Amino acid sequence: MSKTFHILTYGCQMNEHDSEKICGMLNSIGYKEIDNNNADLVILNTCLIRENAAQKVFGKLGELKGLKRNNPNMLISVCGCMMQKDDVREKTLKQCPFVDIIFGTNNIHELPELIKKAQTEKLKAVHIIENTVEIHEEMPKVRKYKHKALINITYGCNNFCTYCVVPYTRGREKSREPEDILAEIKDLASNGCKEVTLLGQNVNSYGNTLSRDYSFADLLYDINKIDGIEFIRFMTSHPKDLSDDLIKAIKECDKICNHVHLPVQSGSTKVLNEMNRRYTKEHYLGLVEKIRREIPDAAITTDIIIGFPGETEEDFLETVDLVKKVKYESAFTFLYSIREGTKAATMENQIPDDIKHDRFNRLLEELYPIVLDKNKECIGKTYRILIDGVSKNSDDYLTGRSEHFRLVHFKGDKSLIGKIVNVKIDSAKTFFLEGTIQK
Ligand code: SAH
Ligand code: SF4
Ligand code: F3S
Repeated sequence: MSKTFHILTYGCQMNEHDSEKICGMLNSIGYKEIDNNNADLVILNTCLIRENAAQKVFGKLGELKGLKRNNPNMLISVCGCMMQKDDVREKTLKQCPFVDIIFGTNNIHELPELIKKAQTEKLKAVHIIENTVEIHEEMPKVRKYKHKALINITYGCNNFCTYCVVPYTRGREKSREPEDILAEIKDLASNGCKEVTLLGQNVNSYGNTLSRDYSFADLLYDINKIDGIEFIRFMTSHPKDLSDDLIKAIKECDKICNHVHLPVQSGSTKVLNEMNRRYTKEHYLGLVEKIRREIPDAAITTDIIIGFPGETEEDFLETVDLVKKVKYESAFTFLYSIREGTKAATMENQIPDDIKHDRFNRLLEELYPIVLDKNKECIGKTYRILIDGVSKNSDDYLTGRSEHFRLVHFKGDKSLIGKIVNVKIDSAKTFFLEGTIQK
């Protein structure tokens, strides 16, 4: 009888895509995926971006400990960003001795060997490759969707924003060869894939480690030529590297969605400097103006951190002012969370929780009405939408994203999943739109 595995994925799309590779590796050695903990192998693909991400994983491990008591043959594995950091890995080994296999973000390809070691030698199998990113093109993938795909274009990050743990978990930045990316997308397109999302911590620096002169914009023009692909998305754009060429590519290429996710983090130039973001509020507003001028239809979304060490009320008000000026189509807002090993963790003037929460709530009071107003502007308009699946709230409703990354719900039959339809927007809420399929 074949063995089964269950995988839980925390964190960002990088991790989601790594899980698709893990599933591919496991299928190749005869393991079948199931959707519950009664599996021969349970894998937690972890995230360390904020404190609550790590807490969730330790909570889950507590639950698995009980299961393993009843089923000692079950293997438990922890991988992903948490395991890339020595202190967190040591803590996991110490607090959770029942974990059998530990691997990192750079050695997914070694999983079959690690499983063998844990099974046959009954040894704890731990292997982590720190810092260097070796690209393994040969790994099989089991993709979650047929109609859309996540594609790595760069791995790692060199930016060392002072709050962020990613450069320590994902190592130094490295670009994939354009030929490999284009071949992967052509292959997907020939199998019915209609949308690709290009992934990198900073897609704008794509090409920096290649031996020839080839930029992110060059890559976009080449992907735009691939038959069958209808929507091209990408994330994330670092404001310090967003080039005129990229804006031109978005404008000129019909398949590139008119959406730029441009994390600002703070509206205060002083805080941005402390964060090592390497741009000013004015530079950022200049970029927004350029995007809005060149691509009037573009949606701009962002990430904002509230309560970075030393953030004063004035700094916070600069962020509110920026949000009002940009009028974001949507924004992810985060409370600053100390990450051990980062520069900001040792900064003085950490902001007390009550002040952080108060500022966070005040920011949302400014942000949500802006987002709702923007969503209301969509009413009466018709968008081409690739249908992702059935809505979480009701089986009669389907769901997909507009090119501007807005979530849209509409009535329709399940058989339409994976197809592109025209949807006319009837009503708008802060977090989604509702519409009707046009015949
Ligand atoms: N590479 C992307 C972001 C990756 S992390 C970029 O540079 O934009 C996603 C978001 O998590 C970040 O944009 C930031 O807003 C948030 N984040 C990262 N570290 C954080 C921390 N220590 N506390 C709170 N939010 C954090
Ligand atoms: Fe983290 Fe900054 Fe790199 Fe984004 S660019 S992953 S925020 S260090
Ligand atoms: Fe992503 Fe979390 Fe790692 S956000 S890169 S999974 S720390």
